[in-house]
Amino acid sequence: MRVSTSHDTVQRTEAAAVQPSAGGLQISGLNKMLGGRSIIDDLNLTVGEGELVSLLGPSGCGKTTTLRMIAGFLAPDSGTIRVAGRDVTHLGAERRPSAMVFQNYALWPHMTVFKNVAFPLKLRKLPKAEITQRVESVLDLVNLLHHRDSRPGQISGGEQQRVALARALVQEPDLLLLDEPLSNLDAKLRVKVREDIREIQQRLGITTVIVTHDQDEAMSISDRIAVMNAGKIEQYSTPEDLYEHPKTTFVATFIGTMNRIEGNYRDGAIEPGDEITGVRPEDVHFSVQRVAGALPATVERVIPRGHFYELYLKRQDATLRAYVTGEIPAVGAEGFARIDKAMTFVDGVLQQAAVR
Ligand SMILES: Nc1ncnc2c1ncn2[C@@H]1O[C@H](COP(=O)(O)OP(=O)(O)OP(=O)(O)O)[C@@H](O)[C@H]1O
Ligand SMILES: [Mg+2]
Repeated sequence: MRVSTSHDTVQRTEAAAVQPSAGGLQISGLNKMLGGRSIIDDLNLTVGEGELVSLLGPSGCGKTTTLRMIAGFLAPDSGTIRVAGRDVTHLGAERRPSAMVFQNYALWPHMTVFKNVAFPLKLRKLPKAEITQRVESVLDLVNLLHHRDSRPGQISGGEQQRVALARALVQEPDLLLLDEPLSNLDAKLRVKVREDIREIQQRLGITTVIVTHDQDEAMSISDRIAVMNAGKIEQYSTPEDLYEHPKTTFVATFIGTMNRIEGNYRDGAIEPGDEITGVRPEDVHFSVQRVAGALPATVERVIPRGHFYELYLKRQDATLRAYVTGEIPAVGAEGFARIDKAMTFVDGVLQQAAVR
């Protein structure tokens, strides 16, 4: 058995982090009270130039509030915001080198796709020829040139989303801000558009902050994820590190799925105690034959999950959810369940991860 301490976790996280550069986004000591309550509490965040970072957290944790302060639509009570090496804390939204895509797209229904995208450049009174050239090139980028003369009502939700993205990109911002950009799309389209966004973001190398409460979305497109809880960033790291080394039970349950068992983990079994033991379903191994370290288990439930099955395995010390492929046992089958990796939390904070 190998035991890694939470100290190792901290070092890994720092190693995974991108060094702050002159560009990108730096937020320090950000605070905001709304309606007499502290909504954002001493928030610090550094996004490297060209990085895509997600703000991920449950409803009401302060994601939109943070994004609006970065964009300049809401003034912080204290703290500083630097974009592309410049302190923008006291600049209005229109003077910041950032562009924001709102959750509801906010397209003008009576204007063509071309005119919607051209609008921010018209406001800046750019020459007509330059506007046409920039709009056409960005419409080409988001694959919508053939819809340049359509109106928003004549194109699909995913296409409307790409128009909203084009309207932000045409401004050639140093920082792209997206608030729940995919929430109005159906499941299949969400996956397609998020891949489009990631591909375009990487092609342009544009520093991007995306707000989402969908962990799957955040995991699949982000360089790093800031997991937010009640106005604070609880952990900030790469998707892999958050999954493998969550520092708290909140992060462990918010990123991926976790068996959350009350009791202390000792040598493959769970004993009564005041710790919390966390086990990922893919770290539970089920077999019909007894294997070393496994305890007797009964299959209580079998749930098809697409390319794998989820089992509920009742052992004497705990009921464990497991993900399995291949041969699927029937409900009521008797076998053995082994825990291959367990995390131990005391007062919600990771103490150690034990690997068989
Ligand atoms: N103008 C306001 N006055 C008072 N409270 C506000 C105001 N705006 C936001 N809040 C509160 O601040 C908290 C954070 O709101 P915010 O919109 O940032 O959440 P969120 O993380 O974006 O949530 P969601 O995922 O639901 O969009 C919420 O409790 C909200 O009710
Ligand atoms: Mg929000």
